[in-house]
Amino acid sequence: MKKYVPCPQVTLPDRQWPSNHIEKPPIWCSVDLRDGNQALVEPMNIEEKIEMFKLLVRMGFKEIEVGFPSASQTEFDATRALIEQNLIPDDVRIQVLTQAREHLIRRTYEAIEGAKNVIVHLYTNVSPMFQKAVYKTTRKGIVDIAVREIELLRMLAEMREDGGEGITFEYSAEAFSEAEPRLAMLVLTNVVEHFGATPEKKLILNLPSTVQKTLPNEFADRIEYVHRFLPGRENVILSVHPHNDQGTGIAEAELALLAGAERVEGTLFGNGERTGNVDLVTLGLNLATRGIRPGLNFKHLDRIRATYERCTRMFVHERSPYAGELVFTAFSGSHQDAIRKGFSYRAEHPNQPWQVPYLLIDPKDIGRSYEPIIRINSQSGKGGAAYVLQNRFGYNLPKSMHPDFGRLVKQEADRYGAELPPERLLHLFLREYSAINRPYALVNHSISSRGAQAHSVVRFEGTLRHFGEESQIAGEGNGPIDAFFSAMQQAHIEGFRFVSYHEHAISSGSDAKACAYIELEYHDTHVFGVGIHPNVSVASIRGVLSAINRALIQSGEA
Ligand code: KIV
Ligand code: ZN
Repeated sequence: MKKYVPCPQVTLPDRQWPSNHIEKPPIWCSVDLRDGNQALVEPMNIEEKIEMFKLLVRMGFKEIEVGFPSASQTEFDATRALIEQNLIPDDVRIQVLTQAREHLIRRTYEAIEGAKNVIVHLYTNVSPMFQKAVYKTTRKGIVDIAVREIELLRMLAEMREDGGEGITFEYSAEAFSEAEPRLAMLVLTNVVEHFGATPEKKLILNLPSTVQKTLPNEFADRIEYVHRFLPGRENVILSVHPHNDQGTGIAEAELALLAGAERVEGTLFGNGERTGNVDLVTLGLNLATRGIRPGLNFKHLDRIRATYERCTRMFVHERSPYAGELVFTAFSGSHQDAIRKGFSYRAEHPNQPWQVPYLLIDPKDIGRSYEPIIRINSQSGKGGAAYVLQNRFGYNLPKSMHPDFGRLVKQEADRYGAELPPERLLHLFLREYSAINRPYALVNHSISSRGAQAHSVVRFEGTLRHFGEESQIAGEGNGPIDAFFSAMQQAHIEGFRFVSYHEHAISSGSDAKACAYIELEYHDTHVFGVGIHPNVSVASIRGVLSAINRALIQSGEA
């Protein structure tokens, strides 16, 4: 006999769900304060429960399971606090869980006294194992247990001041996903009948994968089976409650929606028993990426995460979809390059659908910024480093300079042995390319011009220091760079060919500076220098001098 066997499957050869599409969001129900809370090492206290409740309301949840009030005094008191402190908006229904036992049901009704809209949530287990080992009963016994206290539930609802108007019932067939399908259907049919559900007063029929054991497609088959064949389907809101034991909670929920489910119970970031409940942040934002408004507000995901982490003392994994610290970060050079190109393309085509490579969603839409998208380590390429310099500090390196800077970044990252923060990149860039004053330093200089504008001749004069020795240099040309270059040649600093020049302003207002990028060729090698100064001519001359000095250092002549 095998130790592990698969769950029984429904026979559904004409299944329709694979051809369906999700066209609208489900009814969302957060079970953070119940299923999520009961799984915490240190359950939330009342203040924390209230803080989480307020967060869930702000996010737009209209159905929130607030606890299991008959299970403990804290659970009871937390429910009372929400009601007595008037914290439940009129359009929000709180949900409370109870077992099918008289004293627990009575206690549950005490807990919700005075609340306007409440979902009273009954659950019984329908798995073969519970039938054999826990309830020790027959198939009929499983049905009897499910319906046993329904009359009491209805009676206590009717005895409320509102005559039961504000009460909605929910029934969960615990372990539905592993139950024998026909027995599960029998239980559900009886439950719907006993609750006297109608299209005007529907019963929420919740179908959990309490412990995941099936493939998501098998779960979807089960949901479609109930959706198509449940007598009185029109009297029911079909709900699912996936857990995540096999890591497929999201897939289960999404396929269940294709198969006819209308409502999903889950938690923020997938907190919950063992491997957790289905993560409603991922589920909701998955819908958003497919063009469906989720109906929940994820605009400030970092704040949502911070409140969640504070109240639950859990943390959101760095790789958790959408919310993880690293999910909008690319370390690999080819990814960085593609992202940078994607952003440029998007800037030129702002009205097209989102399609930046490697970024599933616009980080801005969930309150995250572009800045940390590209971070630099030894895996990174030339494009990423240039992107950071441009986006963080306004230095727009010419394309021809990217490989040279990329090589320096790699060396530095290997030396440093960790990620290079943006400030360190800037430091590296300035240290390597700008204000290189050895072996030659310009002590002072002047630039003058003569003649009509179009044909003017620019004259450069200056004092050059070389290992402590100063000499006067002078040269003429059609611009400051040309004049400086010829002055250097007259001082026998020769062998350089001018290749390219780029320049831009790096800040606006009174402290605006020019940044000049100079590319020279020396002994068949291309070398770069950078000059920064409020005066663009001075910036250019500094760039040329830095490039000459770098070339001499690199070729071992200094
Ligand atoms: O996972 C489960 O089956 C439950 C029920 C009580 C709904 O949490
Ligand atoms: Zn659960």
